[in-house]
Amino acid sequence: MNDTPAPYPLEDAEKSRVVILISGTGSNMVTIAELIRDELPEAEVSAVICNEPEAAGIQKARSLGIHTDIIDHRGFTSREEFDVGLMRTIDAYDPDLIVLAGFMRILTPDFVRRYEGRMLNIHPSLLPKYQGLHTHKRALEAGDSEHGVTVHFVTEVLDDGPNVIQAVVPVLDGDDPQSLQKRVQLQEHVIYPIAVKWFIEGRLSMQKGQSCLDNKPLPPTGLKLDT
Ligand code: GRF
Repeated sequence: MNDTPAPYPLEDAEKSRVVILISGTGSNMVTIAELIRDELPEAEVSAVICNEPEAAGIQKARSLGIHTDIIDHRGFTSREEFDVGLMRTIDAYDPDLIVLAGFMRILTPDFVRRYEGRMLNIHPSLLPKYQGLHTHKRALEAGDSEHGVTVHFVTEVLDDGPNVIQAVVPVLDGDDPQSLQKRVQLQEHVIYPIAVKWFIEGRLSMQKGQSCLDNKPLPPTGLKLDT
């Protein structure tokens, strides 16, 4: 029997470092930060970075004792310049994983290439359906019977990288964009922590443009959860 004590607490230098980027309320950021705090002692959230100085998520991150950086994109003359500033800030933490959690910026190719394979995003649709904005409204207008949310690796095309995991949410009679958004968001808080946990545990990777779990390619939808 191996009675060697668990190697925790780890020295900070040994931990996987996660940087989370937000622009808004930060509910996904909170679920991921709580997951890491409570269940992944081998990881830490090094910082939450936000481009909106008034975003509610900033205070939530601080309440969790997480360091925050605010980089207002309006202080830069171009998208490229902003992304260079953002990369400098991110790189200071030497992160293993970058989590986009409602980060409402289109990223430049240089930025995406720098973090390819270690940057995840969550998008409120069953990708590849409804890339871009207003996904709940578009699903309702199309008369879809189901909608949902996807976690994917970020590649150069917006909302297009390989899927990791999806949750399917039924569209109910009488749904409006707000009611649908609320039900979808409940599932966001289920699937994003799963994907982050897989990554931290070394199980999730992007190989030759495909998402792999335990080195086996995931289906194009990613792992699909029906709710
Ligand atoms: C979520 O709906 C997510 O799918 C989208 O932006 C929203 C962020 O919400 N990318 P929150 O800030 O995590 O509450």
